[in-house]
Amino acid sequence: MKEMTVRVSRFDPENDTEPHFETYTVSVHEGARVLHVLHVIHDTLDPTLSYRYCCEAGQCGSCSLRVNGEPVLACMQEAKDGMTIEPLNLPVVRDLTVEMEDVLARLAPFPAREEAGLPTKEEIEAMKPLRDCIECLSCVSECPAVDVASFLGPTAMCQEMRIALDPRADQNRIRNAIEEGLFTCTTCQRCRDVCPKNIEIPGKAIEKLREIANRQGLTLPRHQDVARLVEDTGRSVDRTKPTFLEQVPEVIEPDGPVRGEVGFFVGCMYNGRLPETALDMIEVMKRNGIRLIIPHDQVCCGSPLIRTGQTRILPALKKRNIEAFTRRGITTVMTMCAGCGSTLKNDYDTPYTIKDVTEILTEYGIEPPAALDIRATYHDPCHLLRGQGISREPRELLKTVVREFVEMPSRCCGAGGGVRSGLPDQAAALGRQRDDEIKKTHADVVVTVCPFCEFHIADSTDRPVKNICTLLLEGYREKDRKKGVKKESE
Ligand code: SF4
Ligand code: SF4
Ligand code: FES
Repeated sequence: MKEMTVRVSRFDPENDTEPHFETYTVSVHEGARVLHVLHVIHDTLDPTLSYRYCCEAGQCGSCSLRVNGEPVLACMQEAKDGMTIEPLNLPVVRDLTVEMEDVLARLAPFPAREEAGLPTKEEIEAMKPLRDCIECLSCVSECPAVDVASFLGPTAMCQEMRIALDPRADQNRIRNAIEEGLFTCTTCQRCRDVCPKNIEIPGKAIEKLREIANRQGLTLPRHQDVARLVEDTGRSVDRTKPTFLEQVPEVIEPDGPVRGEVGFFVGCMYNGRLPETALDMIEVMKRNGIRLIIPHDQVCCGSPLIRTGQTRILPALKKRNIEAFTRRGITTVMTMCAGCGSTLKNDYDTPYTIKDVTEILTEYGIEPPAALDIRATYHDPCHLLRGQGISREPRELLKTVVREFVEMPSRCCGAGGGVRSGLPDQAAALGRQRDDEIKKTHADVVVTVCPFCEFHIADSTDRPVKNICTLLLEGYREKDRKKGVKKESE
């Protein structure tokens, strides 16, 4: 047996105006689960503690709650000394019990077809990734779109896609899925991360439902405009000024000895909308001995099309991008846009390695810049943090160039999944939430590594928003300035 002390959120709607924490010390056996701890508290210390459970085997979904801020199944999660136990981010009924009925009662019932045959082996395989949902609502409780839009949530999308794939179902429910909020999802992938059954809801349900919507002519008009632009120009952003690719040669040599060589996949946003940021990156690479090869025949990676379900021309884009880099014998391709990087890593089958700019810079190691006299916070782009699993590298780089670094919670800014273009009011609402978090940090500058986040957060806050490469370049310029001042005074 071992002793542990835990904090548990308590709320009695008849007497409390808001939840508070109580601390309990209990004795449990080695390997005890969170649910065992709750049983001991309930049975020996406080019989009024309210929590749900049923199967105690990870199958019914009723015991979901948060441990140290992350959704888990209490019956599957190992208990740890010092843990904090809270309800899911849903309306609290009492203590750890939340309102689930609201969502569960609105999930589509299975509309069985009369005289339907059994599904084939292939159809069963296709349904498999979605069949495991236990309706624990962990995903709904963490979904940023549910917070600000009329969206029934990821569980409902999972169910709609399962029905769409089942030949025994009697209904084309795509209009229902749209009414339930299909286009409000920002594809942030938070639901996938917290799902105890590892269901890839954005990729396997939401994007697939959007593909069905597209085949039925139900794609949002603004998304259709983007698809037309890609088809006509190879780019998802229209040309309003000289593009990045028009301003640079195909090969950029470093200032000093060559320490490495990478291909650069620029992406539509840096090419057309924020070329100055990509030009800053070039200066950082030159300073750190990395040769850049930049094929001018590269095109849009297709991310805006995949996220919005418009995949018809995707194979052609993939072919052009793969050939553009292989033709030049490039073995490592660097991205600077989190969305492009995530797409090339997860939706392509490339014969070369894909790395984010922050991976390249930390792997090679950089000349230390001067530390700027600023307090900075960092926004995790969803497609970098969850799409590529990268969080350490940008923080390491950032800490080299600022006086003070302060964290803020990782949450979607609202720019992704076609939401900024298709549903701008929803994107703005999520942007305002980001601004609230930014203000709490009292940071002078917000740093990120994604042009969509850069652009959208800049619209949502009065603080400057900068790419990590721009900040590193400022650090190098400050270093040079200080050296110059020192030389002059000698
Ligand atoms: S990807 Fe993000 S926005 Fe979309 S359903 Fe999942 S949590 Fe919600
Ligand atoms: S999709 Fe996953 S997280 Fe969401 S309700 Fe189903 S099992 Fe729970
Ligand atoms: S009690 Fe059923 S999943 Fe935990």
